[in-house]
Amino acid sequence: MMELHDRLIAAARAALELSYSPYSGFRVGAALMDEAGVIHAGTNVENASLGLSICAERVAVFTAAALGSRRITAVAVVTETAGPTPPCGACRQVLREFADVDLPVWIAGRGDEIEQFSLDELLPRSFSTYLDEESS
Ligand code: THU
Repeated sequence: MMELHDRLIAAARAALELSYSPYSGFRVGAALMDEAGVIHAGTNVENASLGLSICAERVAVFTAAALGSRRITAVAVVTETAGPTPPCGACRQVLREFADVDLPVWIAGRGDEIEQFSLDELLPRSFSTYLDEESS
């Protein structure tokens, strides 16, 4: 049985192959698990108006949310850098909307090295209102 982080990294690697990134050439894949155990993946999609480009992580989160998911329980992000590359700040905040601070975030590059962080490590003292209201 494949471990959760292996499954998410495999799904993120598959998503990365679909990256539309002709401007940066920087391909990213992301995959998350929701509260129902469903995996949702995303990849970065760029635009000629560069500021309109969107990161892989946000595509995955918004895809899940648009399908009714409201909780993220684990996430993986894969790039083609030699080592793991952590997610951008904007995506950390977007993850926080639907995840607790102890969310495991696995990151991998081209090689076998995998790093694990909690969302709290990546986004300390985060701003959140939705989940707090949900649990009270
Ligand atoms: N990118 C992501 O998909 N995720 C990140 O966390 C950082 C950056 C994308 C955006 C853009 O398409 C390319 O990588 C270069 O910044």
